[in-house]
Amino acid sequence: MILNSLSLLNFRNYHNLDFEPSSAINIFFGFNAQGKTNLLESIYYLATTHSHRSNKDQELLRWGSQYLHLKGCIFRNNRKLELEINFQESGEKIIKVAGIKKTRLPDYLGSLSVVLFSPEDLKIVKGSPKERRRLLDIEISQISTNYINLLIQYQKTLGQRNNLLKSFKEKRLDIDQLEIWDSQLIKTGSKILAKRFEIIKKLSSLAKINHLKISAGKEKLEIKYLSSFHVKPDFSVEEIENSFNSRLKELRREELNRGSTLIGPHRDDLVFYINNIDVKLFGSQGQQRTTALSIKLAEVDLMYGEIGEYPVLLLDDVLSELDSLRRHYLLSAVRKKVQTFVTTTNLEFIDQELLAEAKIFRIDEGELIPH
Ligand SMILES: Nc1ncnc2c1ncn2[C@@H]1O[C@H](COP(=O)(O)OP(=O)(O)O)[C@@H](O)[C@H]1O
Ligand SMILES: [Mg+2]
Repeated sequence: MILNSLSLLNFRNYHNLDFEPSSAINIFFGFNAQGKTNLLESIYYLATTHSHRSNKDQELLRWGSQYLHLKGCIFRNNRKLELEINFQESGEKIIKVAGIKKTRLPDYLGSLSVVLFSPEDLKIVKGSPKERRRLLDIEISQISTNYINLLIQYQKTLGQRNNLLKSFKEKRLDIDQLEIWDSQLIKTGSKILAKRFEIIKKLSSLAKINHLKISAGKEKLEIKYLSSFHVKPDFSVEEIENSFNSRLKELRREELNRGSTLIGPHRDDLVFYINNIDVKLFGSQGQQRTTALSIKLAEVDLMYGEIGEYPVLLLDDVLSELDSLRRHYLLSAVRKKVQTFVTTTNLEFIDQELLAEAKIFRIDEGELIPH
């Protein structure tokens, strides 16, 4: 899919920007703090309705502005589609597809798919489980509307169940009430797990291919799912439910004592292995970076496999963090296939050949200057 045009009004340090990206590679260069990441953030926001670096949409409002407006024309499945997001200082957010207001997030998401690769992602192996779950959830949400619904439902159930567990001691509530929430949690949680297993299997084999190539055939990468209770990747939803249920029963007392839900997809993690060795514990920094790179490229391939089109790729300042071998691999893997937006402080990180194909802009205090 292609982002054909983008307009920003009062987004971060952009006052009023209209531009037409190339369907191949777009390069934004400039000094620090000029708005390079802000621009990629706007594309990410248009795709997901969330910023990747702030939970408060108010922070996205250009200082002194009461509203922001984003508009993008995309081309997918041979169709043009207009996406819009309007956010007001009061917190009101209006999302539209083809001029029609959408009140449910799943009706909006998945129109524009993106994969973002930033320096933080290079730390995905070492980072917290939460970041790894986030990577997985964002990827799956972009290919499955049903998965977004499950996540929303699961979060709600989890919140309510935790409240109940917390209030248990004082109020001496009936255990039956808790069991209603248990069955909700198990039902949605097990479906989430089954979907994660399905996707991890694909992601792992795609990442493995990339990793083998980057490591000149020397390293076999595997991604495994680490669940908070006993499950196997080939379990049916029913088998997952049974296992989830019996473990919850075992943990009943402990959960009541601690006032929170101790198992489920919100407690799970991913583990990476190279030649059967845990990369987090024993991998070199280079291996950890290659793992991150292999996974990001696998995300791009996975989306292609699932939705039949490549996502838009956002590469924020990662070129300077990669050595020339990995840089070259990354850029040649997506060249002429994936619409790519690259930010960099230095054009020297990019091959002449690629520069010749690219649309290049200098970013200076929220202004794009064609190069
Ligand atoms: N809401 C906002 N309104 C106006 N300017 C902002 C806002 N948020 C951040 N900025 C400015 O944007 C700049 C950072 O932009 P950024 O895209 O992160 O830089 P870089 O080009 O290094 O990637 C900072 O100078 C900051 O002052
Ligand atoms: Mg930046």
